[in-house]
Amino acid sequence: MKRVQLAAVEAGSVHNNLVLLADKDHLDALGALLAAGEWAFLRQSALQDVSSFSFPRAEGLVFVRILKPEKDPFIALEDARLAGNELLSELRRYKIETVGIQNLCAENRALAFAEGLALGSYQFLKYFTKPAEKTLQEIRLGPESANPMDIAEANALLEAVFLTRDMVNEPHSHFNSVQLGDAVELAAKTFGFEADILGKEKIEALKMGGLLAVNRASQVPPRFCVLEWKPTDAKNAKPVVLIGKGVVYDTGGLSLKPSEAMDYMKCDMAGAATVVGALAVAARTKLPIHIIGLIPVTDNKIGENALSPGDVITMGSGKTVEVVNTDAEGRIILADALHYAKKYEPSLVLDLATLTGSAVRALGTQAICYMGTAPKVIKNTLEESGFATYERLVELPLWKEFGDELKSNIADFKNLGSSNAGMITAGKFLENFIDYPWLHLDIAGPAYLRVANGYRTKEGTGVGVRLLYNFLKKQYS
Ligand code: BES
Ligand code: ZN
Ligand code: ZN
Repeated sequence: MKRVQLAAVEAGSVHNNLVLLADKDHLDALGALLAAGEWAFLRQSALQDVSSFSFPRAEGLVFVRILKPEKDPFIALEDARLAGNELLSELRRYKIETVGIQNLCAENRALAFAEGLALGSYQFLKYFTKPAEKTLQEIRLGPESANPMDIAEANALLEAVFLTRDMVNEPHSHFNSVQLGDAVELAAKTFGFEADILGKEKIEALKMGGLLAVNRASQVPPRFCVLEWKPTDAKNAKPVVLIGKGVVYDTGGLSLKPSEAMDYMKCDMAGAATVVGALAVAARTKLPIHIIGLIPVTDNKIGENALSPGDVITMGSGKTVEVVNTDAEGRIILADALHYAKKYEPSLVLDLATLTGSAVRALGTQAICYMGTAPKVIKNTLEESGFATYERLVELPLWKEFGDELKSNIADFKNLGSSNAGMITAGKFLENFIDYPWLHLDIAGPAYLRVANGYRTKEGTGVGVRLLYNFLKKQYS
């Protein structure tokens, strides 16, 4: 399916359908662009706080959107993204396929407006048999609204977010562990990064006992994907490693989930999809940063040979784990990936995972729970990227006492603590498998939405792609 793109056009280009983006304190700039009647009507209504207008003309529609002044630069950008998304219902009503945006604001927010419009226009229609209706294809921006380099960067990001959303939205019936591996290979070819998809024999040779244990009841073999973007001009001597949880479907295993907690568990590979999206945008924009992506992939199913509560397994690192609950499977497969990452002597490792229901209960869908051992300056940069992209994060502590809950009578650790602070004990479990600066992002809340929220479309949101790109760019280049 062809997806919307931004296009850089020349100054003075004529648009049939045009958005005039104005700012509440500087309405006069609109006067010259509107007909006398339109201008008079707008001025009157603006006094009563009306902020959106549509004027029909012979050649198309002129939409005026008036943004309120906002001191916080991050909220100002988010307001513009949301205003962009809100335009969509009108574009759909008139089946408009191309629209121009002209900035008249003192602080230019046209690119953010276009980003919200483009992100909100995403649809996943693959499995409908009815032909798709005409939808938005192109958002045109002249030099007064955005420069061509920024437009190209925004397009790369959009493409990556759409790739991540597509992967999450694929149902498990059409996206098992082998198919996820194939999709990574295809993305690598399309975007220009390297990918090595390890099969079961290699996973066995690497003694990844965690990944193999979770996969035990599966009809489909596991995969371990190694992605790499290594530009010759990389600014970092030691790579950044991104790890993504790739559970293509989580039934809970023998610790079976109830149906209402299972029906959307195709989303349990959202961390994996975000890592693929991050490598895609890095390669597309030729980001001068050496990045490795690691993705352990399996489903978590029931069957004759299933891993059972009470079992003891030996992990890739050699440590033993008492599996008291097979539904806490994400940390088990991530642990093998975290251990594998040591061989790169990484400067920083970030893992992303739909890891715990506790993260959702604590922060809902608006924020990522994160924790880790990386220095404070890195955490500050990440949090700032969170506000800049509005993929916001809240830090939780990794105090040693939380780890006490993971003591086992029979093995090195249990895979589950008490019912309290589950997102932290999950982090404490992972901490046993690292020897480098590390950040763990629990994206269980914002990765998947049952109903759309602004430009975050329903089902897979692609959360983390814009965040990681913004962060890596700031931190390393
Ligand atoms: N995949 C789930 C976590 C999850 C919950 C993801 C909601 C997306 C939305 C994870 O594997 C899991 O099942 N975690 C359990 C652990 C349980 C054994 C306490 C949880 O946190 O509920
Ligand atoms: Zn689970
Ligand atoms: Zn899971």
